[in-house]
Amino acid sequence: MSRTSFSPADQQVREWLGRQCTSYGLTMHTDGIGNIILGLPQAAVPAASPVWAGSHLDSVPEGGRFDGIVGSIAALEALRVIAERGIPLQRPVQAVIFADEEGNYHHLLGSTAMVANYPWAELAQLRGRDGDRLVDALAGMGWDPAEATGTARQAGDVHAFLELHIEQGPVLEAAGVDIGIVTSIVGLGGGQVTFTGRQDHAGTTPMRQRLDPMPAAGAFLAQLPAIAAAAGDAAVLTCGLIEAEPGGTNVVPHQVTAHLDFRDPHPQALASLEQGIIEAASAAAEAHGVQSRYTRHSITRPVPLDPVLQDELHLSAKAQGLSTTTLPSGAGHDSQNMAQIAPTAMVFIPSRHGRSHSPAEHSSWAAIENGANVLLDVLLGLASAEAGRG
Ligand code: HGY
Ligand code: MN
Ligand code: MN
Repeated sequence: MSRTSFSPADQQVREWLGRQCTSYGLTMHTDGIGNIILGLPQAAVPAASPVWAGSHLDSVPEGGRFDGIVGSIAALEALRVIAERGIPLQRPVQAVIFADEEGNYHHLLGSTAMVANYPWAELAQLRGRDGDRLVDALAGMGWDPAEATGTARQAGDVHAFLELHIEQGPVLEAAGVDIGIVTSIVGLGGGQVTFTGRQDHAGTTPMRQRLDPMPAAGAFLAQLPAIAAAAGDAAVLTCGLIEAEPGGTNVVPHQVTAHLDFRDPHPQALASLEQGIIEAASAAAEAHGVQSRYTRHSITRPVPLDPVLQDELHLSAKAQGLSTTTLPSGAGHDSQNMAQIAPTAMVFIPSRHGRSHSPAEHSSWAAIENGANVLLDVLLGLASAEAGRG
């Protein structure tokens, strides 16, 4: 699955979603940055702050078919069941599909915009992995990019947010547990280190006269495990994208950029991890006679999830005869933004061999059904409770 936000594949799935909503009698609204909000037929909607469920439909390049998709389709299915059975509610239930959760343009782009407006200056400089401008991608969808600066909701606008998601790790499968109730979501940072040297001919330039940034980048990248270990035993550090400019095999590059993803459940360890990156990059550059520069892309704080909602998820799973455990999330999620404006909780289902962000990603239909039933049950509990409870 390679479905990055605002790509032709994304446009296809948005059209599919529109057809589903039409056939189920659901409403569909897309905000200025591409977040989709699905709702029940207007007649069925009491005037109160809605309960939300959702996730994302975009994927990483060559990703899996379950990450984000399970939670998005389960939320759609919950709305379909509520509409089909005419279940009476005290609050509206809405499904939300966030744009660009996988950060082609900016990590957790859509849900970040859901809780705080992007200033135009920041939006206008965001680029995708392919170098395309976000504002051009939004215009390519037929939207007015200026609308992307006015998307934020306030605390109180949403009564509660629930996200069903695959675990993307090995814990539930190894423990033989049906349902994971997420206690917190890891803090995550993104940034890049650029090593700058001098562009030269690959054949005629003697090795000792080169200012080649690639060996410096290589020495830095070889230290990633040690940099993570120095920050703490839960720290992780990845370079999944590296660029050499100008990018010719017979040209000594003048610049090499390593894009980094770093995470830790503890804020202070996340800060020292970032500091470790900066120091190691500058030491490697100095040792190889070139320059280095670190640029931070984003830092998203680690987030504890709502304990009351965690209990509701646990009780619902137990009532359905499902085993549960609690666990932190090593993956980032839209929930860590939603937790800033509403009580938020996540429910995990097992991932086969813990694999994700890979075509090997898989969860069984039985696991997906378990997760969807727990999601629907807790959604109904939150939306049918007398206003003020739950
Ligand atoms: O990178 C993450 O953890 C998430 O899948 N976007
Ligand atoms: Mn993902
Ligand atoms: Mn995801």
